[in-house]
Amino acid sequence: MNFYIKTFGCQMNERDSEKVIGILTQNGWRMTSDIKEADLIIVNSCAVREKAENKIYSEIGRLKFKNRNATVVAMGCVAQINYEKLSRVAHIVIGTNTIDEFYNIAKNPQKGVFIKERMDNPDYIFPHTKSVSAFVDIMYGCNNFCTYCIVPFTRGREISRKKEAIIDEIKKLIDNGTREVMLLGQNVNSYGKGLNYSFVDLLYEVNKLEGLKRIRFTTSHPKDFSKELIEAMRDLDKVCEHIHLPIQSGSNKILKLMRRGYTKEEYLEKVMMFKEMIPQGSITTDIIVGFPQETEEDFLQTVEVVKTVEYDTSFSFKYSKRPLTKAKDMEGQIDEETKLNRLNHLQQLQAQITQKKLKDYVGRIVEVLVEGKAKKEGMLAGRNRQNIVVNFDFRDNIKAGDCLRVKITKALKHSLIGEITEGVGND
Ligand code: 5AD
Ligand code: SF4
Repeated sequence: MNFYIKTFGCQMNERDSEKVIGILTQNGWRMTSDIKEADLIIVNSCAVREKAENKIYSEIGRLKFKNRNATVVAMGCVAQINYEKLSRVAHIVIGTNTIDEFYNIAKNPQKGVFIKERMDNPDYIFPHTKSVSAFVDIMYGCNNFCTYCIVPFTRGREISRKKEAIIDEIKKLIDNGTREVMLLGQNVNSYGKGLNYSFVDLLYEVNKLEGLKRIRFTTSHPKDFSKELIEAMRDLDKVCEHIHLPIQSGSNKILKLMRRGYTKEEYLEKVMMFKEMIPQGSITTDIIVGFPQETEEDFLQTVEVVKTVEYDTSFSFKYSKRPLTKAKDMEGQIDEETKLNRLNHLQQLQAQITQKKLKDYVGRIVEVLVEGKAKKEGMLAGRNRQNIVVNFDFRDNIKAGDCLRVKITKALKHSLIGEITEGVGND
């Protein structure tokens, strides 16, 4: 039996799809990229913006048109909140808290809607399929209720996984060749609340694991991002020097309307502390333009922050009204054209900054963890500690999982090109 899976959305969704792939393949299913030969078609959906949400409906329509006989499964964030609507177009609907239902589907795909408010066992260790670099959930859900955001509704209330489960999962991964873990949570800085254990404690624990080379994490919420965490990043050799710290807006008025829990000044203070303590570190962010009541003045304050921080990359989005959220009913909604102009402005500015940042690497020697073949023929690809893709010439004696020293020779639009200098092997 064959299955086809299509994934939309963030790393959490990617990880969930990986769980599904693991469960099905362990139970004798084969993954296919040919829709026509699929017995089971799975679409993992994202609800963060309206455009993303609509994709699940168009995608299911498209896939059904190509293969009318397959059983269709809708899963993910849209499935969690719109299960009724989806049950009219899909045979099986699986929410974000019921991934374990795939153990039953693997045996016998029965029609049904499987939605729960909470996961039965958040500590359960689901299978992995990726090797060198792996995603590991450390917590599920979110309690922040930013006024634009649907995630607390699609992923439920925040719950931390026990450190024993996380450590066990990482140990198993290491035994199977993993060298880098990306610890995942909507707000990793609040990990451990209720467990008497903090995210920094967890980093110290994971850093001790032999055979592991790198630790990354995402996403950090600026309101909980602490000096202790920066110190841990500085002091722990495996923790990579990169933070994803979504600012969303540079205007205090808008930040308040968004219910973010910090001011621009507090945010910048933390960024400056990070830059001072970890000068080689990289910072990325998310920005929303055109939030209700955002004036040109407010927007220009966001532009100013982008210029001040000089993000390595930023992901900017036009504000999108989401069901269940406070902001959808706010006065002063912004028209589409203004949103688009602001988005273009910001993206052009960021492209210049990214280019400048990438060029700064030329001539420098960086540590690259090899992940495999590059898209370009005859080249290998990996990432440096700052999470930037580095491509370099193929050599027979180099394999995925090796850590190399690479001299950067050229900056492309979003990645770097380099030459191996020394240290081929596993150190
Ligand atoms: N409209 C636009 N962007 C949004 N994001 C979250 N909700 C919305 C929304 N309603 C963005 C935020 C978040 C990223 C994952 O998606 O910037 O950090
Ligand atoms: Fe990820 Fe949020 Fe999209 Fe769900 S709605 S897939 S949590 S970005």
